[in-house]
Amino acid sequence: MRIEAEQGDITTQDTDVVVNAANSSLLGGGGVDGAIHAAAGPVLLAECREVRRTAWPTGLPVGEAVATGAGRLPALWVVHTVGPDARAGQRDRGLLASCFTRSLDVSSDLGARSVAFPAVSAGVFGWSAADVADVAVQAVRGWAGDHRDSPVELVRFVLFSPGVLAEFDRALGADTQA
Ligand code: APR
Repeated sequence: MRIEAEQGDITTQDTDVVVNAANSSLLGGGGVDGAIHAAAGPVLLAECREVRRTAWPTGLPVGEAVATGAGRLPALWVVHTVGPDARAGQRDRGLLASCFTRSLDVSSDLGARSVAFPAVSAGVFGWSAADVADVAVQAVRGWAGDHRDSPVELVRFVLFSPGVLAEFDRALGADTQA
């Protein structure tokens, strides 16, 4: 599995899956969440409401992931995940790692071959880009090692700013190639 990082707008990614940095309500918000819903169109919110009505009536837990269609986005699916919120004292790296591994589980079960991730929790939820990069790269590399027969061939971190990209490039270069 190839793991790469680039600067860009995740709503333009034509990967099979685009991961949304959502909140537990799944009813939209700002940042990535706002951009994805705006680009996907109102059908995405309708599908999220259906997820709330069926699979997750009390909301999506932190660290969990759930798929919907992608509306007008070039992607085939949106996988919504909820990062830990540092402002609320949620600083458990395992919970943040779970956002990435559960999103890959869900993507793999869908038969996705490529997945684009934003820097989950590095915006409104107040985590440092450095910590998110370290946790995300380690989580994805570990998942790849445990799922060698998965259809997922490419994971792309799509970062909105040069500073966040630099942290992911550092994290990707840091470890020996696992
Ligand atoms: N493409 C890629 N990255 C983006 C985009 C975009 N279009 N827009 C923002 N980002 C970056 C931010 O700069 C940040 O580095 O994604 C990272 C995550 O930021 P947020 O979107 O704020 O996500 P998060 O920190 O997980 O907070 C989630 O914010 O938008 C609300 O509804 C959302 O309540 C939830 C919370």
